Amino acid sequence: MHKVLFVCLGNICRSPAADGVMVHLVNERGISSQFEIDSAGTSAHHVGEPADSRMREHAQRRGIFLGSISRAFDASSDFEKYDLILAMDNSNYRNILAMNPSGEYHHKVKMFCDFAKNRSESEVPDPYYGGAKGFEQVLDIVEDGVEGILKHYEQK
Ligand code: 4NP
Repeated sequence: MHKVLFVCLGNICRSPAADGVMVHLVNERGISSQFEIDSAGTSAHHVGEPADSRMREHAQRRGIFLGSISRAFDASSDFEKYDLILAMDNSNYRNILAMNPSGEYHHKVKMFCDFAKNRSESEVPDPYYGGAKGFEQVLDIVEDGVEGILKHYEQK
């Protein structure tokens, strides 16, 4: 069982998109039993909320359902439980590492974009205060990166 956790700031835009795209693809490929997939935010600001309606609408147009409910990253259990903890941007990455001062779990924390084929972006830009283009860009990067994550596990 591969356990993957996507982490952004609010857990209402970028990490729910990655979570939903990966769930969609593993279901489509009949490999969902091999994976446990979830998402979380470094901030607790939106806890209990579904994904942002704009993010859900853009995903729905691509046939992808986003069903996450925002939760905060839990340093007391998420570091131990997940094999791969994927930060959507540099600030998320630093914030996750800072929650594990001993560094014991730092090897599990990676940048999401490291798995993408298209290397033009090193981060998934925060779409929250922008327009439709930003949400489409999130989905483009996320679809690419999730393909890379699945390839990574195929090669193991
Ligand atoms: P996310 O986007 O980190 O991709 O979920 C954001 C959601 C909310 C806020 C910022 C980014 N906010 O400032 O409330």
